[in-house]
Amino acid sequence: MVYLNGNFIAKNKASIPVMDRGFLFGDGVYEVIPVYQGKIFRLSAHLKRLQKSLDSVKIPNPHIENEWLAIFNQLLTYAETGNQSLYLQITRGVDICRKHSFDVLTPTVYIEANPLIPKTKQMLEQGFSAITQSDIRWSRCDIKATSLLANTLYAQTAKEHQVEEVILHRETIITEGATSNVFMLKNGTLHTHPTGVNILSGITRDLALESAQACDLTIEESSFNINALINADEVWISSSTREIMPITQINGQTVNDGKVGQYWACVYTHYQRLKND
Ligand code: PDD
Repeated sequence: MVYLNGNFIAKNKASIPVMDRGFLFGDGVYEVIPVYQGKIFRLSAHLKRLQKSLDSVKIPNPHIENEWLAIFNQLLTYAETGNQSLYLQITRGVDICRKHSFDVLTPTVYIEANPLIPKTKQMLEQGFSAITQSDIRWSRCDIKATSLLANTLYAQTAKEHQVEEVILHRETIITEGATSNVFMLKNGTLHTHPTGVNILSGITRDLALESAQACDLTIEESSFNINALINADEVWISSSTREIMPITQINGQTVNDGKVGQYWACVYTHYQRLKND
């Protein structure tokens, strides 16, 4: 079952008109929210970011927090047991004709829940590979927009190279991953690109920083370059669906000794505790 504009319907029965601006232009925003043991994780933070995305592109928010919660909870009653991730998409709505400019329309709301399958302990202990690529995205990466052409190309590149993530750089500065935030640890200091227009302000990024503090790491939200990334003690990525993952190989070279770092283990353990709060 999925949610579309007020109705809970079978996914194969859900459709939108061709004049929906989400279809025509990718004119919409989205959120991905994890659900652990039936509890929506960091709902307020996700809805706050959703509001920010909507405001940035001048789409009115069709619901207040309690209404969103009620819709999510109803949808979750149709989902399988086990952890889920909610995918919520809001487009500007259906126009009468195709034109770039817009009038006030009724937003299209689509939500689905998918099982959230964690990486196995064995996979986490082994670590993951990444490659670096130039960041070709637009200059408002802080908006969680559904226009994801660059990101689809990165995902395809990752698939072709059989790596977990593509880590992006503008000039030489590491911004974030194609679908994650990036952390670099050197000599007990954790570095991650500051929030702003060049990265998505990840909800998991905030939780990773909170966990890093609990693990006695010094935190520097300041940019770092590819060279620093390659020569890091540890590299991690974070996202709502992948939590915090250790990257042990970049562009075919090992990070440090190629083993999963001790600080990642501490931060990961702390994060698991936050999930149960
Ligand atoms: N992606 N940066 C980018 C470009 C992302 O697409 C994501 C998340 C993040 C991490 O944000 P958060 O911790 O709030 O999930 C950072 C989601 C999961 C996705 O597109 O499916």
